[in-house]
Amino acid sequence: MTKKKSIQTTLNHSGYVPPAGFAAYPTAIHHASTVLFKDVASMRSGDWKDKGGYTYGLHGTPTSFTLEARLAEIEGGEHCLLAPSGLAAIAMVDLALLKSGDDVLLPENVYNPNRDLGRWLSADFGITARFYDPMIGADIAKMIQPNTKLIWAESPGSVSMEVPDLRAICAVAKAKGVLVALDNTWAAGIALRGFDVGADIVMQALTKYQSGGSDVLMGAVITRDRALNDRIAMSHMRLGMGVGMDDAYLVLRGLDTLKLRFDAHDAAARKVAGWLQQRPEITRVLHPAFEDCPGHAIWRRDFTGAGGLFSVLFDARYTEPQVDAFVDALELFGIGFSWGGTHSLAVPYRIQAMRRNWPDAGMLVRFNIGLEDPDDLIADLEQAFAKL
Ligand SMILES: Cc1ncc(COP(=O)(O)O)c(C=O)c1O
Repeated sequence: MTKKKSIQTTLNHSGYVPPAGFAAYPTAIHHASTVLFKDVASMRSGDWKDKGGYTYGLHGTPTSFTLEARLAEIEGGEHCLLAPSGLAAIAMVDLALLKSGDDVLLPENVYNPNRDLGRWLSADFGITARFYDPMIGADIAKMIQPNTKLIWAESPGSVSMEVPDLRAICAVAKAKGVLVALDNTWAAGIALRGFDVGADIVMQALTKYQSGGSDVLMGAVITRDRALNDRIAMSHMRLGMGVGMDDAYLVLRGLDTLKLRFDAHDAAARKVAGWLQQRPEITRVLHPAFEDCPGHAIWRRDFTGAGGLFSVLFDARYTEPQVDAFVDALELFGIGFSWGGTHSLAVPYRIQAMRRNWPDAGMLVRFNIGLEDPDDLIADLEQAFAKL
């Protein structure tokens, strides 16, 4: 184009190209909806599922590709798809792998919105969702039907904290040709790698430890098998599961310190849980590293750490209003959902209403132990107990 461009066009088409060779540790944040192709031929030949190139912002930019590759590396997987929340990642798996007439199995202690999604699929989509005892182990074989296509597993349950025998569940599922999707959010790929115990799909809510700042919602679905990844990628595309690149950057930034933070949460949580175990108000500490926790031996066999999330059961003599008042009296613990951030949290649960045949009558309180000094957290708990 030879004619002098108007200012309006110049504002939109600057010819400036920054010098090559810039190097720094942070991954650059590449924002895009439109991705430019070199020519029409390359536009026509690009396959959005093949991450060798770029096609449209929804399918990724160098920022999200880098995050996906690093998450796959952490889990020991090959492929990764990002979703705008952990729950969106769960839904993406279900909608990719289940169709009318299929059956899906979920643990009774599954993350509650995943349970709700299962019930919705049952009510409105012609898919049956059935629930299994998380401690079922190899007996999962008795629940698998010819139309069972997917088994969800979660270790431990994120409120009731039972540690299932994932190796047994995955071995049976494999023998019967059923896929296992593991919600590995609690272990974050640090304390357990899902593929090591036989999962086919590893899902994580990056909202927790990977982001680490209680400021990002994001999820990931990691696989080893390209064909399985591509099936899930179709639902990623059809549902428009884009993530914002600023958020992807925040998660990337969190990955560098993920193990250090996870270990710090773990050490502090074990200290606080150990202190709580001595309290007369508490009947059981549901922390996988403690013997009271169902599946503790399996945790010792399969996991290398624990992180900051655990629950305790109050003696049944304390009523719900009393336990609520105890939580209200805490000063360093926020009252709120989610976990994996730097701030400690406490949430009371009516566990008996959530779980069939729950053996204890007392209230359950779940703690996320943040990065505060555990001695200060213990002092805070002590002053709240004094008000009980
Ligand atoms: C075990 C588990 N899985 C998945 C999720 C969903 O994550 P998100 O909040 O990013 O949707 C959560 C969130 O609390 C969770 O606890």
